[in-house]
Amino acid sequence: MPTALITGATAGIGAAFAARLARDGRDLVLVARDGDRLEAAAARHREHGVSAQVLVADLATVEGRARVADRLADPAAPVDLLVNNAGATQRRPFLEADPALLQGQHDLNVTAVLQLTRAALPGMVQRGRGAVVNVASMLGFATGSRSTYTAEKAWVTVFTEGIAATLAGTGVRALVLCPGFVRTEFHERAGLDVGARRGLMWLDAERVVEECLADLARGKVVSVPSPQYKAFATLIDLLPRPLLRRLMAAVERGRR
Ligand SMILES: NC(=O)c1ccc[n+]([C@@H]2O[C@H](COP(=O)([O-])OP(=O)(O)OC[C@H]3O[C@@H](n4cnc5c(N)ncnc54)[C@H](OP(=O)(O)O)[C@@H]3O)[C@@H](O)[C@H]2O)c1
Repeated sequence: MPTALITGATAGIGAAFAARLARDGRDLVLVARDGDRLEAAAARHREHGVSAQVLVADLATVEGRARVADRLADPAAPVDLLVNNAGATQRRPFLEADPALLQGQHDLNVTAVLQLTRAALPGMVQRGRGAVVNVASMLGFATGSRSTYTAEKAWVTVFTEGIAATLAGTGVRALVLCPGFVRTEFHERAGLDVGARRGLMWLDAERVVEECLADLARGKVVSVPSPQYKAFATLIDLLPRPLLRRLMAAVERGRR
């Protein structure tokens, strides 16, 4: 069975990817830091008759990224779908944030995506098949003075678009998933108060994954799940950048 490796596979969007791919009959490699939670998730997925390997790794560390990169580059156990999903933000404004935490966030959100994509692609290109899905965010289309998260997600989007172009004709694809608000553990982990998480702009992780995989099958490069966020992305595109900056700054002031 074709194998998928998913980072951040124990919660939220990553867990939804793993569940859907297991139902599709994909063998899985699941990556996260919490080993017990990974083992429990792997046991659930094995009930679908697929194999599920557990890889405990902190992708904010050199060693963690190396462990996953080695697995991706192993020619004896090829990975045909890499989902670079693990990501996080911290809550504090840039000038108040702990520099070490900022660096760890950058290494998780950017360095891991770069290194794991680089480790996975040569084998896929050689085999003439495969795909990389990188999870960015709607925020990557906007601006943000509060934290480096927006810039990191913009990097993931532009990086993936560039990679997709270089892969043309190889049989390998790259797609960037840009969700809006999704009901996961993300905001709670960051200590962000986002209220009741109800309403049109809050999506379930399962729906985000379904739309993403449908877009991948259609050969799309950028996936923005739901009509409401497609409209939002178009609006952001149309706004003059100085106006967008002022609007985002006002939103961020309102959050303090
Ligand atoms: N939720 C949203 O509204 C939203 C919107 C746009 C984009 N996104 C993006 O979607 C992706 C998934 O987010 P989510 O909302 O599903 O988050 P989540 O519910 O908080 O899940 C995060 C997952 O990543 C793992 N993880 C966190 N830090 C890690 C590290 N240093 N090394 C390895 N694994 C790590 C976690 O497991 P462990 O703690 O065990 O490591 C967990 O499995 C992220 O890239 C996020 O930026 C989310």
